[in-house]
Amino acid sequence: MTAFIELGFPQKILLNELQSLEDFNSVKSVLEIGCGIGTNLFHLAKAYPQMKISGFDIDAQRILLAQTVLKRFNNVNVFVEDARLMSTLKRYDLVFTSAVLMLISSKDIQEVINKIEKISNNYIIFIEYQSDSHVKEELLVPDTLKFQYLRTKLSRFFLLPQMLENKYHYWKRDYEQFISKDFEIIHKRKITKSMWSGNWVRHGYVMTFKKVKSSVRG
Ligand SMILES: C[S@@+](CC[C@H](N)C(=O)[O-])C[C@H]1O[C@@H](n2cnc3c(N)ncnc32)[C@H](O)[C@@H]1O
Repeated sequence: MTAFIELGFPQKILLNELQSLEDFNSVKSVLEIGCGIGTNLFHLAKAYPQMKISGFDIDAQRILLAQTVLKRFNNVNVFVEDARLMSTLKRYDLVFTSAVLMLISSKDIQEVINKIEKISNNYIIFIEYQSDSHVKEELLVPDTLKFQYLRTKLSRFFLLPQMLENKYHYWKRDYEQFISKDFEIIHKRKITKSMWSGNWVRHGYVMTFKKVKSSVRG
């Protein structure tokens, strides 16, 4: 439960990014894709009680926990949904992901990003592993897993199928190559040691995209 009391690194990053938006006051509705147990939404709702805040996650158990913790706020709505299907037709002033696109497979990522663009009225924020060498996408295997895999013969039988099933992999991508011309990148900040730790410092970025004026729909 401390996740809900203390303002953690990802929430600080998110709130700072929001406050740095030029016309932040125009952001009235926010959607988090893959909100998990709702930690980011909790701090968002606490900081901005006037904002309409929504989130969804593919994992029904996480959403159940999120609903329990977030019921004290009357400006938050969370529901079960798969980012790959995203049947929601609602639009939001800002749509964001934090450590979620990194789990979406190569096969699905472009479609997911197209859908995110469709439901965003103005801003998109990704807190994800971003390539800084223009490599469109690469799969990262955690070092601990590589080590275990190499260490024992037995683990090869257990871990190899999981590795092939993509269970413990993270995608690092150049998200600028997935976003259409309808959005322009306005901020791209590398996550530093003062902001987070571990692999987030190696690969993490906060990126904000804004809808280009000519494509803002009435
Ligand atoms: C590492 S957690 C991040 C949770 C939250 N965004 C945060 O920053 O605390 C990744 C979340 O993405 C969710 N997720 C993975 N694939 C998803 C999908 N296709 N649609 C919706 N949520 C998904 C997982 O269930 C999990 O809750």
